[in-house]
Amino acid sequence: MNTQTNFDMVLFGATGDLAMRKLLPCLYQAHVAGLLHPEGRILGVSRSELDGAGFLAKVESNAKIHIKQNFSDSQWASFIKRIDYLTVDVTRAEHFEALGEKVKARRQTENVVVYLSTAPKFFAQACENLAKVGLNADNVRVVLEKPLGTDLQSSQQINTDVAKYFKEEQIYRIDHYLGKESLQNLLALRFANIMFEPLWNNKYIASVQLTIAEQLGVEERGEFYDITGALRDMVQNHLMQMLCMTAMERPASLDADAVRDEKVKVIKSLKPLTVESVNENVIRGQYTAAEGMNGYLQETDVPAGSFTETYVAIKAEIENERWAGVPFYLRTGKRMAGKVAEIVLNFRDLDSHIFDGSQTAPNRLVIELQPSESVRLYTQVKTPGAGNNVEPTALSVDMGKEIPGRRQEAYERLLLDVINGKLALFNRRDELEAAWEYVMPILENWAENTQAPHGYPAHSWGPEAARELLARDGNRWHEEQ
Ligand code: BG6
Repeated sequence: MNTQTNFDMVLFGATGDLAMRKLLPCLYQAHVAGLLHPEGRILGVSRSELDGAGFLAKVESNAKIHIKQNFSDSQWASFIKRIDYLTVDVTRAEHFEALGEKVKARRQTENVVVYLSTAPKFFAQACENLAKVGLNADNVRVVLEKPLGTDLQSSQQINTDVAKYFKEEQIYRIDHYLGKESLQNLLALRFANIMFEPLWNNKYIASVQLTIAEQLGVEERGEFYDITGALRDMVQNHLMQMLCMTAMERPASLDADAVRDEKVKVIKSLKPLTVESVNENVIRGQYTAAEGMNGYLQETDVPAGSFTETYVAIKAEIENERWAGVPFYLRTGKRMAGKVAEIVLNFRDLDSHIFDGSQTAPNRLVIELQPSESVRLYTQVKTPGAGNNVEPTALSVDMGKEIPGRRQEAYERLLLDVINGKLALFNRRDELEAAWEYVMPILENWAENTQAPHGYPAHSWGPEAARELLARDGNRWHEEQ
């Protein structure tokens, strides 16, 4: 991989939370690892009236604290030499003239990356103003941060507006879950081994669970979160990507479009929900006060009586030959009992048993994406001594221990991929819109539904109704298996 492509990165929303918590710290890590071209430059841009020194003072106080490893004063000093700042209000075309001048003055024509870490309502105008000063030429790539719209229509509108100024291959729609090493490893597990793929279908798999559970609540993001909710924040994007990587067919190659073609097919094969079937198949939850922690409704900036969901569980079905009849249970929530992202494949039971105890726990494959990056295959092993009892035991690989070495954080990997023009880990327009299409009946149902979300106590595994969703099929969530 050519990791030494020269670049100018124009970072809109440079004083914001994402830039300070993730983007700048990840760029620092890439710098320390020698993965950034020595002349690569980062131009912070926002509405704030700051000069370069004022911005660097903010970076010192707000970004440096998020660097958890490899910090050294000398590396930091050389990293910040890459950084400059310009005040630009995305709604003011005249501000873009100075921006255009500044980028052109560098005479670095290889690569310009414009990262729009702003609210999506500014994307169209930002792109229009960039185009006015030529910052949409073929050497410019634009990165769009999620959420891309609030529903299918607004997402289509943004995509149409952006497409007026940028070609599809210049557009990098980010979903940081795709940058996670552990999620990419799922493709290796499936398609670089002979053992799993033959079993990876409805003949051998009874059900699949995809979980992204977080222990934190909405913290200081109440205002954003209340108009967003877990469905838009996590399901339409991160969980959907996990589903695609788990269920997709083998792509012809790992090229961007080959992979994305297969992912789109999965989303399009999902059995469409209807406004009515949502009542049966989707659980909307909201955390309530417990263990001295606030409930969602007591969090800062959350309006009284809000119905916004902090938890979603969905029973999804994929209507293709490989997966017909296998329920896919998706769930995500804030303030749950643990922080974990995992994929659980529950295998079918044997047709008959000659050992005692084997019928109680059919094989199970657990792929943990975080906090650890591990794969555990639960198999039946004979209990020592007389008798013919077996008990489930995990064949377990912890990738962090088995394959030590630096793991790039998702944003670092993705930022480097944009600099190097690699699109495979970014969403294509059709993929994203198909995902919106799938969740639309849920949004429509909830917009009309006067029934409050199901409560679940902070630091629990979610509402009782989500347990019932699985119990109906004779299944249980992983923590209860
Ligand atoms: C973000 C959501 O996209 O993903 C956050 O906006 C969420 O609400 C975060 O906390 C989770 O990411 P990760 O990598 O910590 O699982």
